[in-house]
Amino acid sequence: MDPDDLDPGELAPSSLQGRRKNWNLWQVVVAAGLAVSLAWTRQFGIRRLPFRLQVPYVPSSAKQVENMMVLLEKRSGKLVDLGSGDGRIVVEAYRRGFRPAIGYELNPWLVSLSNIRAWRAGCYGKVCFCQEDLWKVDLSDCSNVTVFLTPGLVPLLERKLLAELPEDACVVVARFPFLKWTPSEVTGNGLERVWAYNIGAVRQAQQGKIGRSPVQVTKLSSGLDKS
Ligand SMILES: C[S@@+](CC[C@H](N)C(=O)[O-])C[C@H]1O[C@@H](n2cnc3c(N)ncnc32)[C@H](O)[C@@H]1O
Repeated sequence: MDPDDLDPGELAPSSLQGRRKNWNLWQVVVAAGLAVSLAWTRQFGIRRLPFRLQVPYVPSSAKQVENMMVLLEKRSGKLVDLGSGDGRIVVEAYRRGFRPAIGYELNPWLVSLSNIRAWRAGCYGKVCFCQEDLWKVDLSDCSNVTVFLTPGLVPLLERKLLAELPEDACVVVARFPFLKWTPSEVTGNGLERVWAYNIGAVRQAQQGKIGRSPVQVTKLSSGLDKS
């Protein structure tokens, strides 16, 4: 049958049906997306975290990661990244000899992304990405901790780290320094600046046993005066 013989009126209902089918498909896709994201937030507790504890995912820049590694240069042993995002700090730390290198991250998609990153870097199964709430993790055997979170969390974090970390631990913090603590070293400028804190020294300073040592003052001013 020649298509020209078809009555245009006969075509209209089927094209309408096609459009309706497409529309239904979109509705299903959107509804499924909403259901998955709702299930995810319920299951993995992002919503259950109080608002003040919620931290958005913002990856460290390459320079920021490099600065963190510079401050950890002479150290070794266990390293933990609190809120490890896509795993870039943990993978780099493993590359530089930290064992074990562990990331704690609430978001399961980011944990998957971290495992892909580890696989591409050839260290899948050698580094560990745990889908866990960092506030529930016991840090008592961590000698190196990296932190890139938000300023609102600083007081809570200070309390957790001081209560749990061993005396020889070093905490390296990106972007938002712990203002009540005296850093042992600072490096980088602007948004890529990072601070290292020696837990033993911070505890002693808090107990009023020592003031600032000349080395700390020199390093502090050389780092902070640059901005
Ligand atoms: C600013 S991003 C930093 C990511 C990574 N550390 C980096 O520097 O590239 C903070 C990360 O912490 C995660 N996070 C926030 N609260 C958390 C919690 N309670 N437990 C575990 N991860 C958390 C977020 O999902 C986000 O990926």
